[in-house]
Amino acid sequence: MIVHEFDVIVIGAGGAGLRATLGTVEKGLKTACLTKVFPTRSHTVAAQGGISAALGNMGEDDWRFHFYDTVKGSDWLGDQDAIEYMCREAIPAVIELEHYGVPFSRTADGKIYQRAFGGMTTHYGEGQAQRTCAAADKTGHAILHTLYQQALKHHAEFFVEYIVLDLVMENGECRGVIAWCLDDGSLHLFKAHATILATGGYGRTYFSCTSAHTVTGDGNAMILRAGLPLQDMEFIQFHPTGIYGAGCLITEGARGEGGYLTNSEGERFMERYAPNAKDLASRDVVSRAMTMEIHAGRGVGELKDHLYLHLEHLPPALLHERLPGISETSRIFAGIDVTKQPIPVLPTVHYNMGGIPTNYHAEVVTLNGENPDTVVKGLMAIGEAACVSVHGANRLGSNSLLDLVVFGRAAALRCAELISPNQPHLELNPTCYAGALARFERIRQANGDLKTAEIRSAMQKTMQSKAAVFRTQTTLDEGVAEMKSVRESFENLGLTDHSLIWNTDLVEALELDNLLSQATVAIHAAANRHESRGGHAREDYPNRDDKNWLKHTLTWLQKDEVKIDYRPVHLYTLTDDVEMIPPKARTY
Ligand code: FUM
Repeated sequence: MIVHEFDVIVIGAGGAGLRATLGTVEKGLKTACLTKVFPTRSHTVAAQGGISAALGNMGEDDWRFHFYDTVKGSDWLGDQDAIEYMCREAIPAVIELEHYGVPFSRTADGKIYQRAFGGMTTHYGEGQAQRTCAAADKTGHAILHTLYQQALKHHAEFFVEYIVLDLVMENGECRGVIAWCLDDGSLHLFKAHATILATGGYGRTYFSCTSAHTVTGDGNAMILRAGLPLQDMEFIQFHPTGIYGAGCLITEGARGEGGYLTNSEGERFMERYAPNAKDLASRDVVSRAMTMEIHAGRGVGELKDHLYLHLEHLPPALLHERLPGISETSRIFAGIDVTKQPIPVLPTVHYNMGGIPTNYHAEVVTLNGENPDTVVKGLMAIGEAACVSVHGANRLGSNSLLDLVVFGRAAALRCAELISPNQPHLELNPTCYAGALARFERIRQANGDLKTAEIRSAMQKTMQSKAAVFRTQTTLDEGVAEMKSVRESFENLGLTDHSLIWNTDLVEALELDNLLSQATVAIHAAANRHESRGGHAREDYPNRDDKNWLKHTLTWLQKDEVKIDYRPVHLYTLTDDVEMIPPKARTY
């Protein structure tokens, strides 16, 4: 075992991980970033449409409007203190990105270009805001490369293609992680005063999703193995426009630039479901409307199982300048020319609102007796891995890149408050990581009859069919039972490669184990929540029920049993600069 000592370790090198890494080295802390893929291959690279901030470059805007839209978009499950923090800090955080060198698209007078996105309004729902700052339709790519270059400039240390196996916990505090180096097969103990999980979501629990194959929620699974809870795992976002068949993302920015959806009758059906916002209603609303159109027999194509997104009425020069990436993706994956033909699209799993519960300083919290906000010392979570919760039951488009940079930055600021550079490390008892090594060895030596791909496929099909856009108690209970047997089948896993060096068979098996635990708690949490809210749409409980369900779900996985409890939603703001918005009906 090779032992390393750092002030801070960051697990994951997407937008959140790189922003935290950069922020901590800027503050003089000795920081290591451990990542299973090369940093610029992290999934943030695929983010297209942009990052929200009320800069007001294209018309009137105010961070308080952004706050209102985000609370409403969250269907009132978002924590309003954290939402205030994010929307206010959005403005300096984006300007800071510009100064770091992000090549944003520009207006004629040289300001950052901003486009319209779903659910983003001015004057508390009156007008339409243009709030999403864009670098054409490759904003994530631009941000990721800039942050990586800045982190290198500030001498952050990167451990690339290191698979983090588990957290090292002692007396309820996090002391670091155990990791496996793919390149030479060595095992490593990273000791740190703060461990920041920036490991992304669990999109790959589903068969059809916009996420990269690496999006397996590894940090979330480590939390469950550490005996800590995950929060709001039932809230899974379907993006309205994944390419039919391939699942690749077609940015909401396409509708922000004037694109629209039609059904088999050529009707712009969103006018019926959301008379004001139309195609730019929030994602949960558009995805449900699309699913209802298909269920009503108004889908397009031979099987009438998808819909059309039209861009062919837009000037080719605009498509070339603002949407070059999705024009290319549509050509490659749908075989169409967006200047002439509509894109076949279908709601596709895109984002996980749930994850590791944290406060707005990015510190992991848990329920301890009566205290729902007990900080777990030494442990932080940011980005899609975390549930701050600024997105509540439904995230607004372009609030994700924002969440990454605002809370990546917040984590770095908190580390600088709590840790002095080169603070000495305590001795560690090896029993703290014996379980992690035993799990690794058990999976490496697995000799059963089932391949990783077979078990993964069974899990993905269960999630796809039983925890879909619309859910019922029957489908969810079936899903719970199916997932139990899928998870049990992992005992019969067999690997063909038992070596330690570049063993991708083993990497996939470890990732599958991580996915299985998250799929299990997600489907239990969905079966447990008897209401419809945001991304969780129950046909048997069609209404939001604030009396009984205005609360966050917490799920623990204890051996094979899922335990459920709750945390209150923060219905208060941080300052008097903005007022708490009481729950009310949500229309677009
Ligand atoms: O549609 C998009 O460009 C996705 C943006 C987001 O999920 O924030």
